Amino acid sequence: MSLKPEAILRLGVAGVGRAFSLMLPTLTGDPRLRIVAGADPRPEARARFAMDFSARAFETVEAMCEEPEIDVIYIASPHQFHRPHVEIAARAGKHVLVEKPMALALDDCEAMIAAVERAGVTMVVGHSHGFDAPIARTRALVESGAFGQLRMINAMQFTDFLYRPRRPEELDTASGGGVIFNQAPHQVDNVRVIAGGLTRSVRAGAGAWDPARRTQGAYSAFLNFENGAFASLTYSGYAHFDSDELCEWIAESGLPKDPTRYGGARAALQGLSEIEELNLKSSSNYGGAQYRPPHGDDDAARRWHQHFGLLIASCDGADIRPRPDGLMIYANNEKRFEPLPRPRVHRAEVIDELHGAIEHGRAPLHDGRWAMATMEVCYAILESSRTGREIMLSRQCAGATP
Ligand SMILES: NC(=O)c1ccc[n+]([C@@H]2O[C@H](COP(=O)([O-])OP(=O)(O)OC[C@H]3O[C@@H](n4cnc5c(N)ncnc54)[C@H](O)[C@@H]3O)[C@@H](O)[C@H]2O)c1
Repeated sequence: MSLKPEAILRLGVAGVGRAFSLMLPTLTGDPRLRIVAGADPRPEARARFAMDFSARAFETVEAMCEEPEIDVIYIASPHQFHRPHVEIAARAGKHVLVEKPMALALDDCEAMIAAVERAGVTMVVGHSHGFDAPIARTRALVESGAFGQLRMINAMQFTDFLYRPRRPEELDTASGGGVIFNQAPHQVDNVRVIAGGLTRSVRAGAGAWDPARRTQGAYSAFLNFENGAFASLTYSGYAHFDSDELCEWIAESGLPKDPTRYGGARAALQGLSEIEELNLKSSSNYGGAQYRPPHGDDDAARRWHQHFGLLIASCDGADIRPRPDGLMIYANNEKRFEPLPRPRVHRAEVIDELHGAIEHGRAPLHDGRWAMATMEVCYAILESSRTGREIMLSRQCAGATP
């Protein structure tokens, strides 16, 4: 018996920069997608896009959305454009995949949800690490009740985030810069996926410790959940310890990491002025003179699942540690490793949710309400660190059952 081939979603990309280049193995490798158009104000990015994909490249998202041969707009423009680009796409009747963070304020998240609901189109927010297969498997084990009740989650990630080349607004918290807008959505998504989504309160501290890069580079947050579980989240982007050391030296991307390349990000920025840093970022971005695709041809064979640092989910009867290649389960009487197969396509789980919703009517976990609830936790991390108070939450949701 031959299976009916899956319908192909025709994709227009809004913003062909770094996030787009990180998604390329998914966009080109998943047979359920075809790139048909792109939009970007940078002429060099449009020129390369038109050449790489034999696809139309538009100067504006508005113009691209007039194209009838597009089903889905993948919005990978800077944060402040997520809301207007979702509204433009929805008005044109297009489904939406929009990058994290969903938006810079709850009002914007509400408006995006209203726009897609009015238009009757699907919105999935991602990629974020809550899609990663080891996290989904951890959730399934916790939900199965095999190890009793979930009690506590500890999540920790140490990276060089703050010392990667940045646009000036990426170093300004009010414009969406820093680790709380850019990295916390991943860690919060992971923890909410495993704990069931309903965060009750947040208490946090955050630090902006480098006067040359005046945005938050680190935080610790304590989350209480409605079901009685609690979680401790720590992130540092200050490039000293690298928590990939605790993740089998597999990088966040799922690819092996060379542990001898210590301190590279900080060293590459040393002595650069703001404008030189911007030029470095621009010239190495998609379409720039120094652009190198972040993924090599042989990556698929070497790649494990993506991850976001060390995470331990503690149940009554076991501690569960998702790894890029499977789950370590430390139960009462035994310690065992449950392997996962290598990913069939990088980030295919994102397309599973998107395609499943559009073609099969399956409610996605990472819809607008889920992503807004994740952002509510992130905004609360900022507010709690500013006020020193515990913040009670009101927009949480359990999300669709995967
Ligand atoms: N999920 C992930 O792993 C991941 C990784 C990186 C970035 N991101 C997210 O992706 C988004 C983009 O970040 P980035 O690092 O790719 O930034 P970037 O600057 O590298 O790329 C943004 C692109 O959008 C283009 N752009 C700017 N204004 C536009 C407009 N009005 N219309 C269309 N395109 C426009 C820029 O020219 C650039 O090419 C951010 O929200 C970021 O948080 C997600």
